[in-house]
Amino acid sequence: MSLTTLGLELPSDPRWVDIAGMNIGDILIDHAYCEQKAASSCISLIVQYPEKARLVEVLTPVVAEEWGHFQRVLKELRKRNIPLGRQRKDEYVNQLQTILRKPSDRHEQLMEKLLLNALIEARSAERFKLLSEHLNDEGLKKFYRELMISEAGHYRNFIELAEEYLPKEVVRRRWKELLEAEAGIMRNLEVRSDRFH
Ligand SMILES: [Fe+2]
Ligand SMILES: [Fe+2]
Repeated sequence: MSLTTLGLELPSDPRWVDIAGMNIGDILIDHAYCEQKAASSCISLIVQYPEKARLVEVLTPVVAEEWGHFQRVLKELRKRNIPLGRQRKDEYVNQLQTILRKPSDRHEQLMEKLLLNALIEARSAERFKLLSEHLNDEGLKKFYRELMISEAGHYRNFIELAEEYLPKEVVRRRWKELLEAEAGIMRNLEVRSDRFH
């Protein structure tokens, strides 16, 4: 899996995975919340768009998967005697929120939400790939490799759903804009050892 497969325009700063590896406890805590937010974001979509049968069908198992990831991260924390602690400020997602449009049309709102989720999934898959390649802990490497495959699948789910409900060319145009904006955010985001993004 490469950046091109995920659509991303800018690779993660290579310093991140090195410092993340040295501070795996904080990374696991931040990661746990990413999984929690991924599950709750899918639940919100199902609650807000119950009439969209395909969306409900595709996202219901994703909720279960994300919650399963959350449980597995908790297990990794427990193994290391690290308490979950409080949620940290998610600068990456906060900044992504600011580039979203706030259209009055419900379908366009849906596209913004689906593409936001697709972006986060793609970036997460890229970061899991880095962790799976660079960590020293064999168990965690395997865990992150599995998650990389799972999140790359979710990225495709969100893009496919956007294309299901909106014209493909509209989705592609907006996706391209969002990818550029995401790259801009990544370029300026502080590289931190206690953040997953
Ligand atoms: Fe996940
Ligand atoms: Fe995911």
